[in-house]
Amino acid sequence: TVPVARDPKEEFGDLVVGLPRKEQFLVRRLYKGFWLLEPYVPGILAFQCRFTPRPDDVFLTSYPKCGTTWLKALAFAAMARDAYPPNATDHPLRRLNPHACVPFMEEIYSKRREAKLEGLPSPRLLNTHIAYSLLPETVTTDGCCKVVYIYRDPKDMVVSLYHFHRRLQPDLSFADMFDSVLDGTVPNGPVWDHVLGYWHASVARPDRVLFLKYEDLLQNTDEHVRKLAEFMGRPFSAAEEAAGIVASIVDLCSFDKMKNLEVNKTGAIVGKFKSIAHDAFFRKGITGDWVNHMSPKMASRLDEIFSDKLRGTVLT
Ligand code: A3P
Repeated sequence: TVPVARDPKEEFGDLVVGLPRKEQFLVRRLYKGFWLLEPYVPGILAFQCRFTPRPDDVFLTSYPKCGTTWLKALAFAAMARDAYPPNATDHPLRRLNPHACVPFMEEIYSKRREAKLEGLPSPRLLNTHIAYSLLPETVTTDGCCKVVYIYRDPKDMVVSLYHFHRRLQPDLSFADMFDSVLDGTVPNGPVWDHVLGYWHASVARPDRVLFLKYEDLLQNTDEHVRKLAEFMGRPFSAAEEAAGIVASIVDLCSFDKMKNLEVNKTGAIVGKFKSIAHDAFFRKGITGDWVNHMSPKMASRLDEIFSDKLRGTVLT
């Protein structure tokens, strides 16, 4: 049994109720420039204050719906390949959803289960959706943890986000989701500030922060798995290359393989505030689905805003 930590709602509740609040399709609070889901705010504050890093921790980070599930699977398969060869029929990723293999900080701290983190073997893979500037200082301090961020074309992200939230709230309209991205109040938004924080960190500290793009990963998954493994300090040896380990990892984590696993067709993540069916994380797994959801005018509007906000980066 894992000891239960102090209740973050008791500890930080007063601070949370004093934050600007927005209730549209989900309740969020504005904290240090980002609209956080209200139920997670106390847990995020606890994470900031109480997290004890290890120098070899690797944080997998993203704005939601940009490829987190895939990144978790690839990183886990690469990191744990000695204990779990990717071809093994009993590989954890064949019986567990990738989210069960990499703990999500917002849930861990909200559920007061942080003692669980201490029991994990090193190097730990950990996950969060919070902005770079909100990460515990102990994580972003030089010489400490590594951070991997995955970015995606915002048009496809909005579509994916809409379908995901519709699973939780069937009357949500695409227009509401789209508008909340444009006005910056979408959960964890503004999205451009989320992206910029990690982008600038990756430029300033390339040895510590790796910035990946979903589209690049789709185009050449092998190359990016090598890059990811090397960044995490686990480069593939010549013998592993010769044995086709990279291709096995890519295959194990491929969209079709993962989507069709029994665990991902039937299971669910039982969160502290909501349950999410595993199959909600595997919708289409392609680029360009935005054409089926928004007019060219909406697409140009979104593109214009992002190219303006992300000017000076290679993302526009
Ligand atoms: P779509 O909704 O466009 O299909 P996240 O994991 O951050 O929640 O992102 C979910 C998006 O990643 C979904 O996009 C989902 O289909 C896609 N995805 C999930 N697993 C994937 C995989 N193994 N390969 C490629 N894309 C994947």
